[in-house]
This record gives sequence, structure tokens and C-alpha cells, in this order.
Amino acid sequence: MPLLNPYQVQLGLYRDHFPLLQNARNKNAIHYLDNAATTQKPEILLQATNYFYKNLNANVHRGVYQLSQEATQAYEGARSAVARFIKARNPSEIVFTSGATESLNIIANWFGHEVLDSKSEVIVTMMEHHANLIPWQQACSLSKARMVPWTPDENGNLDLNILEKLINSKTKVIAVCHVSNVLGTINPIREICALAHQYNVTVVVDGSQAVPHFPVNMEDLDCDFYCFSAHKVFGPTGLGILYGKKEQLEKVMPFRLGGEMVEIVTFESATYKPLPARLEAGTPNFAAAYAFSVIIDFLKSITYDSIYIVEQELKAKMLEILDRIGGFRILGNAEEKVPLFALIPEKMHPHDVAQVLALQNVAVRAGYQCAMPLHRYYGAENGSLRVSMAFYNNQEDLDALEEGLKKAQQMLKG
Ligand code: ALA
Repeated sequence: MPLLNPYQVQLGLYRDHFPLLQNARNKNAIHYLDNAATTQKPEILLQATNYFYKNLNANVHRGVYQLSQEATQAYEGARSAVARFIKARNPSEIVFTSGATESLNIIANWFGHEVLDSKSEVIVTMMEHHANLIPWQQACSLSKARMVPWTPDENGNLDLNILEKLINSKTKVIAVCHVSNVLGTINPIREICALAHQYNVTVVVDGSQAVPHFPVNMEDLDCDFYCFSAHKVFGPTGLGILYGKKEQLEKVMPFRLGGEMVEIVTFESATYKPLPARLEAGTPNFAAAYAFSVIIDFLKSITYDSIYIVEQELKAKMLEILDRIGGFRILGNAEEKVPLFALIPEKMHPHDVAQVLALQNVAVRAGYQCAMPLHRYYGAENGSLRVSMAFYNNQEDLDALEEGLKKAQQMLKG
């Protein structure tokens, strides 16, 4: 199917590439607005996965036979593709994991065991997903380091002046998301890194909600570690990326130990391979890595410029809807945000609204969105109703959402 250039883009244009959304062209059409939880998959991902298992399937780095070498080439090719995609300096700075959660756990685990001590401080923003919060709680509990919260303002923005006051000689690391999975805020990672590095502080970025929406560039951001999951970027489940600057990643203590990450093994001890193998014990998800490299090409052909244009339109239309119907407070009104809206319904429970929407085949997420402290911070004790969009969402999805929200108001507000 030919792809159009950014100037020809219309809402929902690329929907035809996504079979699940096509299946839905019947009376039970799903209006999928839970893209921050996971994204739908284009046909090309299914084809790539099929192709891999039919033609390339063998374990990587282990066989001298042709098929294993071809599988290895596909796997290492995917690593290079990811490195180019996020502008890492070297493919060995890319470690494949099972997801952003594992990537973040690897880093926090290393800090807890080897970097932090009882005099250290760890700055964690109040808008972190639990995956970039709980591993730091554990690291601090293990090392007796102190966790320091960096709180956003009422619009969901982080203030660099506050960060400057929080950083001191004890600060060892800042954990921050590139985009909040609740507020949608795009955080100023480049500026955060520039400030942190003046104090020799490491910056660990959770990029899970950024990569589906805009290009990320490691050279430009200059962060120390950057983590994301393929399944949130139209790719396969069970694959995560851990980027680390070589000089930092080299120091990371392996979280998992086992086959293929070792050089010499005696009964009593083992020496580890260089990067990235030392952080990839066991059989990696090579089929998913290959399939994700095809998704990277897919995104290149669509272009982030097109995605940006579509998403700006989706955001504007969503704001019009909320304005029209009233009764929903948005958590997070940052100027720089992705098309993701956590809503606090007036006089209704978010779960009840989600249930009414589900009956209309509108899929959204209700609850704390894996960010309970943030909801408490904003006084949203019942959680929120999250509408999160991707470039394949269209006017019909928005119309169904508007109808569903109105219906919820009629049914639930009495
Ligand atoms: N982290 C995913 C979300 O925010 C699951 O919904």
C-alpha cells in the first residue's frame, strides 16, 4: 500500500495497515484508544514474524551452520537498526531485554548493589510509571540511599529550577520519563541531562511513551540510559531496548546470568563477555528483534512528520470534544504533550465511565495507570480515565468516544 507524504496526511489514513482495526469494520467496530498500554500491529509485523520463523529460525550466536549464522545476522542487523533509529553511537550500546520494565530494573539493580550507599540520593520524578519508581525504591532500600521526589506543577510540567535545588553532591542518579504515561507531558530531557552532568549525575530515562510519537536522538539528548518497549511502538511484545552510553553500560552489573554472556567458565567462577552480550544472558527474543527492525523501516516510510501532523489534529479535536461536553478535568495541560489525556470525571467513577465506553466498543484505560503516587499528588484518589491515541486513530474513534462520554454522563450522573 503506497504511503503518502506528510502534506497528504489525513486523520486515520494509515489505519488500513492494521488488520485488527480492519477486522473491526463491522457492527462491533472497536475504537481503540488505549495505545499507551500497547499499540496495534501493522500487517508488516505479522509478515516479518512469519518470515523469520519460516526462513531464519535458529538460535543466535551459537551455531556454526548457515541457518544460525543467518539468524545471528538478522538479530545483529536489528541491533544496528535500533542504534541508527535512536542515533546511538554504536550498536553495542543497544541491549535487547524483555521490555522497558526489565531495562529499568537492570539499571536500578546495579545502582542498588554497586553504586549507591547510605550517603547517596536518588531523584525520581513524581510522574514516573511504577516501573521507573519501584526499582529505585528497592535500590534505595538495599543501599540505604534516600529517594528525593521531583514534583511537577499544576499543569504537569517539571521545573528545572526545582531540579537545580534538589541536586547536590550526594545525588547519584535522576530517574525521569521522557513522556508521562498519565500527563502526556514531554519532559526537557536534553536540559535535564545538561544540568545533571554538571554535577556528574547519571540520568536514566524511561522513553516508553515517547518513541511512538516522535524521533529520539541519543546524541542530542545526551542521557546516560534510555529504555523503551517495542510493543508500544507498533512492534512485538516481549522485546525491550536498553540504551546506555558505552562507558556507563560497561560498568553495569549483569542482572541475569547464564549462557552466552560468558567467556571462560570454571566450576567456581566465570568471566563475562564484552557488551552487549554480557547483559543478554539466555536466549534472546531474536524473532521479535528482527520483526522490530522491520517496524523501524515502516516508521521511516510513514515518517514522524506525518505522525506529528495527525497527532496534532487528534489532540485539537479531543480538546474540542472535552470543551463541548464539559465535566471532565484533564490531568496535565503541558504545552508540549502527546495525544494522551488522563481525565477526572465529575461525579462519576473512572471505572464506571470506562465500563459505559466498553459497551460502546470504545477501549480506554481506567485506574491509576501504574502511577499511583502521581494520582494521589493531584488529589485524584479514584484514579483517572485515560484516552491515549496513535496516528491510526480517526474521526470515527473520536465520534464514538464523544457519544460514549455523553452516554456515561446521562447514565451515571442521574
Ligand atoms: N505502561 C502501560 C500503561 O501506561 C501499561 O498503560
